[in-house]
Amino acid sequence: MKLIINLKTYKAGTNQNAIEIAKTIEKIQQETDAEIIICPQPTDIQKINEQTNTPIYAQHIDPINYGSNTGHILPEAVKQAGATGTLINHSEKNLTLKQIAKANKRAKKLDLKTIICTNNVQTTKAASKLNPDYVAIEPPELIGGDISVTKADPEIIEKSVENSTTPILCGAGVSTGEDVKKAIELGAEGVLVASGVVKTKNPEKAIQKLLSKI
Ligand code: G3P
Repeated sequence: MKLIINLKTYKAGTNQNAIEIAKTIEKIQQETDAEIIICPQPTDIQKINEQTNTPIYAQHIDPINYGSNTGHILPEAVKQAGATGTLINHSEKNLTLKQIAKANKRAKKLDLKTIICTNNVQTTKAASKLNPDYVAIEPPELIGGDISVTKADPEIIEKSVENSTTPILCGAGVSTGEDVKKAIELGAEGVLVASGVVKTKNPEKAIQKLLSKI
């Protein structure tokens, strides 16, 4: 089971706060078989890598090479900072299918694991053909909300599993052990969580709760 914790650009997940969450993950990792991965902002990757053993995926990479690309995120740079994988095409950082394919290819060449995020079954199908490590289905209208995708739209997870040749993750509104259990029952191999951990008073308890039913 994979638990991906996306810090987005929340204040509680920025800079020193990101390091604290990474340290919490490192501690919990010793008590679980689940693989917990942190997705911090690019500016925090190196610090987390220097101070913890928590696996780090970038939130985004751009399908560009070394050169004149002001403001873009270079795949080589996140790798050198310590990331071992990356999200691609998160709902909050969309790419075209062509760019997704290119970003996935660039990442694979660098030996970075890839999770292509999608927001419907059709895109899941197309994304899975690009052979990423995972496809993550996240209905945008449920992201950051109180109702888990596993309750609000279980069919989108089942259909994604059916239509994908790549293992499926799911996310949006996931915050309890029940949500994670249901995701696995529906055929997902793990979940992506942001607000259910980062926006809580006690991220350690929130992560333990997520892992409590598996
Ligand atoms: O990448 C995970 C994310 O989009 C889900 O957000 O806040 O609904 O857990 P949230």
